[in-house]
Amino acid sequence: MTSSLWKNLPQPIIGLAPMDGVTDSAFRYIVATYGKPDIVFTEFTNVHDICSGRLNTLDSLRYSEMERPIIAQIYGKDPALFYQAAHVVCELGFDGLDINMGCPSKNVASSGSGAGLIRTPNLALELMGHARKGIQDWADGQPLTAIGLKPSALQAIAQLKAEHPEPELIEGRVRSSIPLSVKTRLGFDCNIIDEWSDCLIQGRPEAIAIHGRTLSQMYRGQSDWEAIAQAAARIQHHGIVALGNGDIKSLTEAHRRIQASGVNGALIGRGALGNPWIFQETHAIRSALATGIPLEQKQSEPNLDAQFQAMIKHAQCFEAIHGTERFVRMRKHLGWYCSSFPHAAAMRAQMVRTNSSQDVIAILQAYLAAHTALEDPAFEATPA
Ligand SMILES: Cc1cc2nc3c(=O)[nH]c(=O)nc-3n(C[C@H](O)[C@H](O)[C@H](O)COP(=O)(O)O)c2cc1C
Repeated sequence: MTSSLWKNLPQPIIGLAPMDGVTDSAFRYIVATYGKPDIVFTEFTNVHDICSGRLNTLDSLRYSEMERPIIAQIYGKDPALFYQAAHVVCELGFDGLDINMGCPSKNVASSGSGAGLIRTPNLALELMGHARKGIQDWADGQPLTAIGLKPSALQAIAQLKAEHPEPELIEGRVRSSIPLSVKTRLGFDCNIIDEWSDCLIQGRPEAIAIHGRTLSQMYRGQSDWEAIAQAAARIQHHGIVALGNGDIKSLTEAHRRIQASGVNGALIGRGALGNPWIFQETHAIRSALATGIPLEQKQSEPNLDAQFQAMIKHAQCFEAIHGTERFVRMRKHLGWYCSSFPHAAAMRAQMVRTNSSQDVIAILQAYLAAHTALEDPAFEATPA
């Protein structure tokens, strides 16, 4: 019996899209703190890395309870590894498993994984079958020790579980099957989403998320929401949740896209960079759709104090999870926060050289000391 997580989520579903190097546990924690999307995805993780148990690469599978419901996204092309990886994802307590069939990057797609799978539909279905069997066998009680994982991998997974902020919650979960979903694109070098979604439907995922571009487009042009709408109707006809994705920068836009396309929800990626607040008023979309009263054009923006507090909290959270050694990965987030206040560009230049949360605090303090409302006319422009 498959969990009905996707169907039980409030609709329309507004989720945080998976982004490699971005949607790590620290960012998801901040998003959960300031916005609380209906669902979040981890960064994609290679099934080979999961099954060989390299702790550094397993970092992408760290999460805290606050982020739930959370879906682990995996990628690769070896069915046997999908079977094992599905066990691991279940064992780590995730709420769902998503297969990446949309990554366009050369080292992923040209080796036949990610969006490369659009060209090998039979393999895509095989991967789904193996992942589903892995989920089911785990739910039926098959232990991790029985699926051929190396002792080093078993040890790394046990360590990851033990390091979960509330390990007893994972350990105490009753085994049950988690839903399988797929995130993909319109096609490889042209839009074949109708036949491609017909193929994916045969794999019986609970949800399919479509980014409205082909692999060849990468991130160029615009996400084609008409194509998404057409595919969504086919997908929903089979009782599968259809999500649209691409270029949504505000909840007003999300509302407009969802209403026009008829999808069950939308995933927001780049619109959340430096803006965890974007998910704050998802309930407003639901009432706008229910009442027919249009959504306010402008969402309330956080004031400068709230933005600075979020930057500090995010930096501290990153440090607590990953340590200062990897703080370089935090810098881009800090840069994304610096966009909507006076002298933001100058601050961004400083933020991209920080090495710790202490550096961040020092920059913010210096900024506040140098620019006060009385001394700096630019502050007139600061959002209240
Ligand atoms: C930096 C970056 C990393 C991404 N990593 C992933 C990933 O790991 N898995 C995935 O399915 N999509 C990934 N994507 C694609 C996004 O999930 C999303 O489909 C795309 O950005 C379009 O949505 P948006 O316009 O809301 O950003 C990534 C996108 C970006 C910009």
